[in-house]
Amino acid sequence: MNRNIIITGASSGIGEALAFEFAKRGYGLGLTARRLNVLKSIQKKIKEQYPNIQIEIQALDVTDYSKIPVVLKKLTNALGSLEILVANAGMSASQAVGSGNFEGDRATIETNLLGAIATVEAGVQIMKKGKSGQIVGISSVAGFRGIAGAASYSASKAGLSVYLEAARNDVKEFGIHITTINPGYIDTPINQKRKVRPFVITVEKGAAIIAKQIEGRVFEVCAPVFPWVILGTIMKILPGWVWRRIKVR
Ligand SMILES: NC(=O)c1ccc[n+]([C@@H]2O[C@H](COP(=O)([O-])OP(=O)(O)OC[C@H]3O[C@@H](n4cnc5c(N)ncnc54)[C@H](OP(=O)(O)O)[C@@H]3O)[C@@H](O)[C@H]2O)c1
Repeated sequence: MNRNIIITGASSGIGEALAFEFAKRGYGLGLTARRLNVLKSIQKKIKEQYPNIQIEIQALDVTDYSKIPVVLKKLTNALGSLEILVANAGMSASQAVGSGNFEGDRATIETNLLGAIATVEAGVQIMKKGKSGQIVGISSVAGFRGIAGAASYSASKAGLSVYLEAARNDVKEFGIHITTINPGYIDTPINQKRKVRPFVITVEKGAAIIAKQIEGRVFEVCAPVFPWVILGTIMKILPGWVWRRIKVR
């Protein structure tokens, strides 16, 4: 059977690399992002490598919440079905609290949390009719604990992870599976200006790991699993008085 995947935020980084990775795995692709011209050139490159793969593209700003169901329906109709939806679009305009960056905080929450929630809801509306499907949220290890210097980004990802955990039980009755991916550091424009990127991996390697985790229909996982499953557990259980001494920037 033909399997199709829609990926938001597919014009760069993890979303773009996942598009190549799933094309390699034989999936039909629905790709969205704000920059349609960039999506067009990605579509062309994937077509050159994988001429038999169907690739549909649509411009979509995930903060344009009412447009999300319209675009996802259009892509699903063009592809013929929707098996996997990846809510990947994200950004970080976080700065240290007190730097007068409320607009950056708002954009981060509106994109990473509300944009992802609106994407998941639209995906569920499509998939519940067929009583099957998988929805993937790209969260972050930054959601495990409040990261100084990135409070709103941390909050957006903690919020998304908790939302996905609750959604998992809500949508079980529709035959929909929810997967939460928590990347560590994957080399993409979102973090390329950071001085410290512990255990960073290439985006191609990151996409291959994430695609395997998606196909394995895991519930929640770090990408890569090691060392983040250990570091993540330590992050979660460290007492507050220890965490208050740690400043990761
Ligand atoms: N790289 C990492 O180490 C890492 C770690 C943890 C979590 N993540 C998460 O992984 C996801 C992908 O990030 P990335 O690392 O691949 O960063 P990236 O290279 O900067 O890509 C971000 C993607 O999101 C899209 N996007 C941003 N704002 C959008 C909006 N309002 N509407 C629609 N699309 C939007 C961008 O496309 P346009 O600008 O064309 O719209 C772009 O395609 C994000 O959710 C991020 O938080 C990344």
